[in-house]
Amino acid sequence: MTELTDRPVDLSDLDIDPDDFSSNPSSAPCFQEVVASRMSRRTVLRGGMLAAAGFMTTSLFADTPAAYAAPKGKPGAPAAKGSLLGYQAVPLGFGDQVVVPPGYTAVPFIPWGTPILGSHPDFRPGVNTAKEQAEQMGMHHDGMHYFLLDGSTRGLLVLNHEYTAEDLLHTGKAQPRVPAPTTENPDRTISWTQSQRETWTAERVQKSQAAHGVSVVEVQRGSNGWEVVRSTYNRRVTATTAMTFSGPAAASPLLNTGTPANGSAPVGTINNCSHGYTPWGTYLACEENFNGYFAIDRSTGTFTSEQEALLSRYGGFSDSNYNWSTQDSRFRVTPDRPNEPNRFGWVVEIDPMDPSSTPVKRTALGRVKHEGAFVHVTKGKRVVVYMGDDQANDYAYKFVSSANWTSLRARGKSPLDEGTLYVARFEDSGRGTWLPLVHGQGPLTAQNGFADQADVLVKTRLAADALEATPMDRPEWTTVDQTTGMVYLTLTNNSGRTEPNGPNPRKKNALGQIVRWQESRNDHTATTFTWDLFLVAGAGRDTGDGSTVQADDAFGSPDGLWADPDGRVWIQTDGTQPEKANDQMLAADPRTLDDKGVPEVRRFLTGVRGAEVTGVITTPDQRTMFVNLQHPGDGGENVWPQEDGITVPRSATVVIVKNDGGVIGT
Ligand code: FEO
Ligand code: CA
Ligand code: CA
Repeated sequence: MTELTDRPVDLSDLDIDPDDFSSNPSSAPCFQEVVASRMSRRTVLRGGMLAAAGFMTTSLFADTPAAYAAPKGKPGAPAAKGSLLGYQAVPLGFGDQVVVPPGYTAVPFIPWGTPILGSHPDFRPGVNTAKEQAEQMGMHHDGMHYFLLDGSTRGLLVLNHEYTAEDLLHTGKAQPRVPAPTTENPDRTISWTQSQRETWTAERVQKSQAAHGVSVVEVQRGSNGWEVVRSTYNRRVTATTAMTFSGPAAASPLLNTGTPANGSAPVGTINNCSHGYTPWGTYLACEENFNGYFAIDRSTGTFTSEQEALLSRYGGFSDSNYNWSTQDSRFRVTPDRPNEPNRFGWVVEIDPMDPSSTPVKRTALGRVKHEGAFVHVTKGKRVVVYMGDDQANDYAYKFVSSANWTSLRARGKSPLDEGTLYVARFEDSGRGTWLPLVHGQGPLTAQNGFADQADVLVKTRLAADALEATPMDRPEWTTVDQTTGMVYLTLTNNSGRTEPNGPNPRKKNALGQIVRWQESRNDHTATTFTWDLFLVAGAGRDTGDGSTVQADDAFGSPDGLWADPDGRVWIQTDGTQPEKANDQMLAADPRTLDDKGVPEVRRFLTGVRGAEVTGVITTPDQRTMFVNLQHPGDGGENVWPQEDGITVPRSATVVIVKNDGGVIGT
């Protein structure tokens, strides 16, 4: 047992992310194959409006017009005796309503554009200014945590806004995405023509930058359900917020751009995917596909071979979706100004309790395309941060603080600055090793291009390559089950995999799996572990697709992941689903095994067309759950959640309660 005493308490069928393309030359997938397979799976869905809520039940939210509850289809079997999963499973979803089990209610909350700050400007899609967007919820909700102010009835929701749909942001109209990304357009959104780029305005760029980043919003539970509080805690952190670097690479010349004055202070955070939270009450926003915001301009000179190697390993640089470089020279990378991209790909610490605090990029946690950063506290109160680098054939990492976090903080040091970063090697035997990313050890020497520890951290991917870490099927979220100490990691898919290995057993893996491991002696600071495959996703183990789940529990592309305090493992999807169903959330009970020894799985929620399901947390009493639906109606097919009569699709949080007031999942 481990102890955690200070824990505050593209269209769904269009499923290739920029992350699908490996920039790891050691195991690059065939790009054409990926595109071909994606194109063949593409389906054009017909438009449909949100149906009237026909399944209202008595609940905290019974007055809310857009309340939904209960599935339309045949419910699954009742829960097994002794199972953590006490609800009836819902069937796969295909429509434009959020569906949760009988006895539960789900309502949309804080959609994109909700005013939270300043003059509280009304949401006017396509009309709001950049200044107004900076006072509203950003776009594309993702990782999220609830920080308690008053237990389970008043707190701060802190959430990431991963990216923007530029068409929807600027025109208020959703347009279909391009059918597939290219290396020039790695983000899965519109690629604008040169003539469109030439008409782009500074106001557009500023609005886009303001729709990115993080929101801090105070929420409280009233008689009508959860509501936003006009609070001095409310804050937007965006692509233009002043930040600092800390840790071993803070003073690296590779992070210095010469502007402003000393060039060492980074500005803004982008593509914030998943997240973490610390026992001292801060939020960690992770920077993922930062490459999609930079135009590389080779017209004015020649990059050094070192610069080219770094760009290539963090590959797919292009700003053809966001067009920021047309108005903001920070995002135009030239041989004489090559370092701005190096200032992204970090984990950013934000103190939500101090709205005037400066966010800090913690360099000790490495520079990769960070999905999330799950913080686990050991018995000795060291912090261990588990992290995935979400790109095909990239790696799983952990950071271990050098000492007890309370004593480090008492000495004025951050536990996220002092410690060791490791990358994982999984052996087919079921064992694994954490390889330290420490300058001077093994191949991490000046001779091999790593002059010091700062170099190792800025070039984390290259250092991990040198250590021969195990290339994985797009490492996404991590979590630790506090009841067992088991660590879980979603591996969402890797259509380009040609060489299977232990934890990544399928070639052309379109549907993904979840690997888990136990650290040796259940000590999270250990450098060895044993692993197994928790669940292999797919249409069901009798279908021949290599999955281990039962057909009733079919899912694909696991991404969001969270073990709740009871040990339920919540699994969220983003991408290809069996039967081209909508993205979904399921829960697994690691302790209840079926006749094949596979953990019990039960589908809890199905989302709407176009949307991924992401971000999951409950209040400390586990009686309210917050989940995010990101990019609903992607491709213009629906207008969920249709709040306040506004008929554009809006990413939003979904608030879920059990109608009898019970613990979510029981
Ligand atoms: Fe931003 Fe890997 O999902
Ligand atoms: Ca994700
Ligand atoms: Ca994903």
